[in-house]
Amino acid sequence: MNISPATFRRVSPTTVRLSSMFKALKMIREDLANARDHDPAARGDVENAIVYSGLHAIWAHRVANSWWKAGFRGPARVLAQFTRFLTGIEIHPGATIGRRFFIDHGMGIVIGETTEIGEGVMLYHGVTLGGQVLTQTKRHPTLCDNVTVGAGAKILGPITIGEGSAIGANAVVTKDVPAEHIAVGIPAVARPRGKSEKIKLVDPDYYI
Ligand SMILES: CC(C)(COP(=O)(O)OP(=O)(O)OC[C@H]1O[C@@H](n2cnc3c(N)ncnc32)[C@H](O)[C@@H]1OP(=O)(O)O)[C@@H](O)C(=O)NCCC(=O)NCCS
Repeated sequence: MNISPATFRRVSPTTVRLSSMFKALKMIREDLANARDHDPAARGDVENAIVYSGLHAIWAHRVANSWWKAGFRGPARVLAQFTRFLTGIEIHPGATIGRRFFIDHGMGIVIGETTEIGEGVMLYHGVTLGGQVLTQTKRHPTLCDNVTVGAGAKILGPITIGEGSAIGANAVVTKDVPAEHIAVGIPAVARPRGKSEKIKLVDPDYYI
């Protein structure tokens, strides 16, 4: 395809800046709606934007991750560390995190460098998505779409938690969990989610 110089001129830096600003605003609105969806204690968007550490952590991570991918690795680490200081949530800037990610309560969360998180994933406080080896390989877990991880759970190693599964509070998971399963205990044992279980795997109305 031939792109004329005139076409180049039409896409000005201002247009590019405005379009990325709109994208960021759209994502922020989606995150706020997601917070309301996951937490019955959530009230207005303005209040939520001010008080939810989980939102601050994911917003800072998106910036740190873009710096990391652009090669500004030092500043990205500094931003991640500063965010940890403010929120108690440590997300390595290299971690890949999808849309509608929500952390309730925050504090004591560690998400390692090679972690991959799909869309609609939710974590409670005290969760570790950690490694078990010290080599520079894929060493952290992969959480597929719509996984929920209960408070204090530890998911260790390059394992995969299948779509729609839930990890119970304080479980220690070191093996793959298939899709639509619930895993509890130490070491975690997974069972298929029952056909009649229509409620959300971790329903805030029941647990908070
Ligand atoms: C795992 C979970 C998603 C629900 O699983 P479930 O299998 O539907 O739970 P049930 O209530 O039907 O319990 C089934 C059995 O598992 C046990 N169980 C439930 N959660 C458990 C957990 N986290 N660890 C160990 N055992 C657990 C129950 O005691 C019950 O045992 P029993 O069969 O001997 O009576 C839920 O219990 C959980 O841990 N949610 C996390 C909630 C959380 O982190 N909240 C934080 C809010 S601040």
